[in-house]
Amino acid sequence: MSKIELVNICHAYDVTSCSNLPDKQVLEDDYVIKDMNLSWEDGSANALLGPSGCGKTTILNIISGLLTPSYGKILLDGRDVTRQGPEERRIAQIFQFPVVYDTISVYANLAFPLKNAGMKKRFIRDRVEEIADILDLSHLLSTSSGKITQAEKQKVSLGRGIVREDTAAILLDEPLTVIDPKEKYILRRKLKEVQKKLAITMIYVTHDQHEALTFADSVSVNRAGEIIQTGSPAELHAEPADPFIGYFIGSPGMNLLDCSLKDQRFVFRDFTYPISAEMAKKLNGTIDRCSFGIRPEFINPAGADQAGAVTMEVDIIERLGAYKILTLSRGDTRLQSRVPDSFSVEEGDSVAVSFPEEHVKLFANERRVY
Ligand SMILES: Nc1ncnc2c1ncn2[C@@H]1O[C@H](COP(=O)(O)OP(=O)(O)O)[C@@H](O)[C@H]1O
Ligand SMILES: [Mg+2]
Repeated sequence: MSKIELVNICHAYDVTSCSNLPDKQVLEDDYVIKDMNLSWEDGSANALLGPSGCGKTTILNIISGLLTPSYGKILLDGRDVTRQGPEERRIAQIFQFPVVYDTISVYANLAFPLKNAGMKKRFIRDRVEEIADILDLSHLLSTSSGKITQAEKQKVSLGRGIVREDTAAILLDEPLTVIDPKEKYILRRKLKEVQKKLAITMIYVTHDQHEALTFADSVSVNRAGEIIQTGSPAELHAEPADPFIGYFIGSPGMNLLDCSLKDQRFVFRDFTYPISAEMAKKLNGTIDRCSFGIRPEFINPAGADQAGAVTMEVDIIERLGAYKILTLSRGDTRLQSRVPDSFSVEEGDSVAVSFPEEHVKLFANERRVY
C-alpha cells in the first residue's frame, strides 16, 4: 500500500497540457480541478466529499491514471507517476456500477487479476479463498457472477482490487449508488472492516456526508474543484472552515443567518441578540456583515427568562425517534432546532430560544472569522 500525493493538480478537459501553473482567474473560469494539493497517508481511510459535478470522478481518474492532468504531479510513495498508465500504478478503482464478468464464476472473477499477473495456480487458490472469506463470498465462489446481487457484485469488484498483494490503493467512486438500501449498510460496514483489516490506502468518493463521515478517518471537502477543508469528521463538524461545510456536514446542517454587529448585539433581520462583553472584545467590532452559524443541536429552547432569549413560532415538528427537529420562525427568519423527543411541544406553540456563545460560528466573505 502506498502514500498518495497530489501536487498542484489542475485540470481542464480541453487542455491536454500546460507548462505553467495557470493563474487564478483562468483556473476559476476554465478549470474543473483548481490547483489541488492533497496527501493521503499509507494505509489510511479517506473520503472526498462534495456535490455532484464538483470534480470527484475527475480526481479519481487522475489518481488511477485513466486521465492525465493538464498540470501538476501525482506521487506514489514519493515517486512521480504522472506519466504512468493505470497498469503500472496498480491502483484499483471501484465504480458506481460493479464491474464483473457476468458469464464466469465469482471464483474466476477474483482469480483473474492474479492469473493475469502470472501467479501459480496454488497461490491463486489460496489467495482467492482468503479474500472470499474476508468478503463473505465463500459460499458463492462457484456461482455464476450474473446470478448474484448488486451488493455481492460490488464485493467481487472490491475483491478484484484487493486480491493482488501489490495493489497500491483502492479508489471507490460512489460505490453504493446502485446497491439496494437494505444492503447499503452491510456493504458500508464491510468496506470499513476490509480497510482496517488489510490497512489499505482507500479514497472513498461520495456526495453523501453520512457515507463519508462513517467510512473515513480523514475527509476532504471539495467545492467546485477546490478542497476547502480536510479533517476528521469531528473536526469538520465542530470547526467548519466555511459556511458551506457547516451546512453540508451535519443533519440537518448548520443554521446560517445574515447578521451584523451593533452596540454589542447581533442584529438579524427580524430580531437582535446580545453579545457578551468577552465575545465583543474578541470580535473587536470589526465585522460589518457576516453569516451567523449555529448547529440545530445547540439551539436550546431556553425558557423566556433567559437573558436575550428570542421567542419563535414552532412551524413544523419532525419526530425522528430519540429526538425531533423543530422548524422555528420569526418574521422571515427560519431556524432548525434539534431537541430530545421528551421535550414537550406542539406545532403552533411559541418557544423562547437561546444561542450559547460557545457554539456560535461567524463567517465573513465565506471564511470563518470566529
Ligand atoms: N469527459 C469530459 N469532458 C468534458 N467535461 C467533463 C468530462 N467529464 C466530466 N466533465 C465535467 O467536469 C466537471 C466535473 O465532473 P466530475 O468529475 O464527473 O464530477 P463529480 O464526479 O464530482 O460529479 C463537470 O462539470 C462535468 O460536466
Ligand atoms: Mg462522479
